[in-house]
Amino acid sequence: MKKIKISPSILSANFSELGNEIKRLEQGGADMIHVDVMDGHFVPNLTIGPPVIKNLREITKLPFDVHLMIDPVHKYIKDYADAGADIITIHPEATENLSESINHIKSFKKKVGVSLNPNTELNLVLDYLDKIDLILIMSVYPGFGGQKFMPEIIKKIKDLDNIKKDKNLNFDIEVDGGINFSNAKKVLDAGASILVSGTTIFKENNGDIEKNIKTLRTA
Ligand code: DX5
Ligand code: ZN
Repeated sequence: MKKIKISPSILSANFSELGNEIKRLEQGGADMIHVDVMDGHFVPNLTIGPPVIKNLREITKLPFDVHLMIDPVHKYIKDYADAGADIITIHPEATENLSESINHIKSFKKKVGVSLNPNTELNLVLDYLDKIDLILIMSVYPGFGGQKFMPEIIKKIKDLDNIKKDKNLNFDIEVDGGINFSNAKKVLDAGASILVSGTTIFKENNGDIEKNIKTLRTA
């Protein structure tokens, strides 16, 4: 039986209460915390960086699933590893040498993720699938929460899951962007095992985080 993990994105949290919001996610049953790092260059938005992550590290034991939407990314990997990231996910377009960046993340004993934008083909990462812990498939163009899920991404998830099975690999498939109660089952059935969600978890059912996490997990 596939273990489903829920990684709430704090991009949709109340940034003036980040610490308490993370505690709410932990009490609500989150498996990890999805931290969207944006630099205003790789994506047209700016969020948080290592100093904030370092402070948040003190208040929870949950794994930090750090999604680096920054370019360049290689020279900053150490800062996020030192700040307390557990999974460091990068976009291939943001590094000159994906293999070197993957090895660099591993040198800090962190899990490695590679994220594919909706217009980034699977074949860009086929050679690395046996070297990484997860593929983060974007079901929106990165930069903002609350966007609409792109249904054409379902086929990409299925194609990746078929490759994973054919090659007998065990990386996780994580999907990120516009996940809600009506598309979560399709995403999981296509092969995903980790769902990222910001808006649905923080806003649905009057912000009942525990109910929203449970609903996504059992979709
Ligand atoms: C978008 C981020 C996503 C986003 C998800 O660039 O990578 O993690 O915050 O938020 P929702 O669930 O609201 O689409
Ligand atoms: Zn993200």
